[in-house]
Amino acid sequence: MALKNDIILILSVVVLFETQLCTSEINRSDFPNDFYFGTGSSATQCEGAAKEDGKGPSVWDTFSHIPGRVTDLSTSDIGVDQYHRYQEDIQLMKDLGTNSYRKDYANFAETCFQKFGDRVKFWITMNEPYTVAVQGYDFGRHAPGHCSLLPSPLFCKIGNSAIEPYIVAHNFIRSHAAAADIYRKKYKGIQGGSIGTILNALWLVPATNTERDIVATQRARDFMIGWFLDPFVFGDYPSSMKSRVGIRLPKFSEAESALVKGSLDFVGINHFTTYYVKDDSLNISKRILKDALADNGAVVLTFNGTHFIGEMTNSLWVFIAPEGIRSLMNYIKLKYGNLPIFITESGNLQSLAFCAIDGCNVKGYFVWALLDNWEWDNGYSARTGLYYVDYTDNLKRYPKKSAVWYKNFLKPTN
Ligand SMILES: *[C@@H]1O[C@H](CO)[C@@H](O)[C@H](O)[C@H]1NC(C)=O
Ligand SMILES: *[C@@H]1O[C@H](CO)[C@@H](O)[C@H](O)[C@H]1NC(C)=O
Ligand SMILES: *[C@@H]1O[C@H](CO)[C@@H](O)[C@H](O)[C@H]1NC(C)=O
Repeated sequence: MALKNDIILILSVVVLFETQLCTSEINRSDFPNDFYFGTGSSATQCEGAAKEDGKGPSVWDTFSHIPGRVTDLSTSDIGVDQYHRYQEDIQLMKDLGTNSYRKDYANFAETCFQKFGDRVKFWITMNEPYTVAVQGYDFGRHAPGHCSLLPSPLFCKIGNSAIEPYIVAHNFIRSHAAAADIYRKKYKGIQGGSIGTILNALWLVPATNTERDIVATQRARDFMIGWFLDPFVFGDYPSSMKSRVGIRLPKFSEAESALVKGSLDFVGINHFTTYYVKDDSLNISKRILKDALADNGAVVLTFNGTHFIGEMTNSLWVFIAPEGIRSLMNYIKLKYGNLPIFITESGNLQSLAFCAIDGCNVKGYFVWALLDNWEWDNGYSARTGLYYVDYTDNLKRYPKKSAVWYKNFLKPTN
């Protein structure tokens, strides 16, 4: 899963390897011997089987079966109404401060440690909490479809975009910490594995050299990466978030902060593209119509007035900006103390090879994805697999050029 359209056409990336970047083709020996390579996949997105084996419904099972989800105007007034329930939402936030969600999650995680810990050595608690918080509770494009974005909450049936994304992220962070605590206290010593989480991160660069855009870029990074990594590494949200979001940003108690801080053995990063950032902090309408994305006082762009960030791909939101992954790795290294990193979803290997030279602590790389699959709100139309799946002919698989390239790349050379 990735940001926005959840599309990445691996093919276009391979074309990039061949035509744009490579003075010489990279090969396996550009990476350390103990570097992990693989592909991402997802049971939910490949298998379906939503009702097999006693599985209960997930938010996506419900969400993807609501008829007329996008166009149903009759209920959009509920979203508007919700938007004005600020006081109630503050109470909601306090209620969610109770322990029950975290306990349920920690119990679920512990069951997994017990059943599979003899074989699983890398545990990943969550996938892309930023996407869930923003797409699920700010834009409402993903399950569970909450939002209150004005002026056109066309498909928002319920939600509060100014508050809910922060509650969701807060619960993600605390739930990870609770699971990691159990793992470390009871299982890690015996099973010898490690535990981390996955964050999705664009690389963000200032649209112009002005002070305002440079400061806005740091803010935008705080609101995307720092939202999660600051608590995990330093025990609290970035100061830019605290000052701009104010009372709507939940707080960690001292005990929670201590549990959250240092709770990652590694971080997984899903990275696909780079955007420009322009300052938008003086925009009056955004200050009034708050939502989690507007709070950063910045806009992300693909064009800065003179240059596009990169060549467009068939994926509407992915632009070819190969240097981004290297810059992002260096940013995490400098700001977050060289935490071990796995690239858990991406399509860009070439400039990652340089990260080792930069002394970044990157441990592995996983292409998204093994098979064409159900790409969330894009359905089956976004074909992100190394293998093409013929949905009309018994789900037959065909290797794409990217599969051949990757296989060749991984082949031992001596
Ligand atoms: C692999 O890359 C390295 C470093 O770029 C180069 O020295 C080596 O010749 C390459 N090996 C093959 C088999 O292409
Ligand atoms: C846009 O970005 C490019 C580099 O990506 C830079 O050379 C150019 O000066 C920027 N344009 C403006 C208007 O700052
Ligand atoms: C201010 O924000 C609104 C809402 O996001 C946007 O439509 C508008 O274009 C922005 N104004 C400027 C000057 O960027």
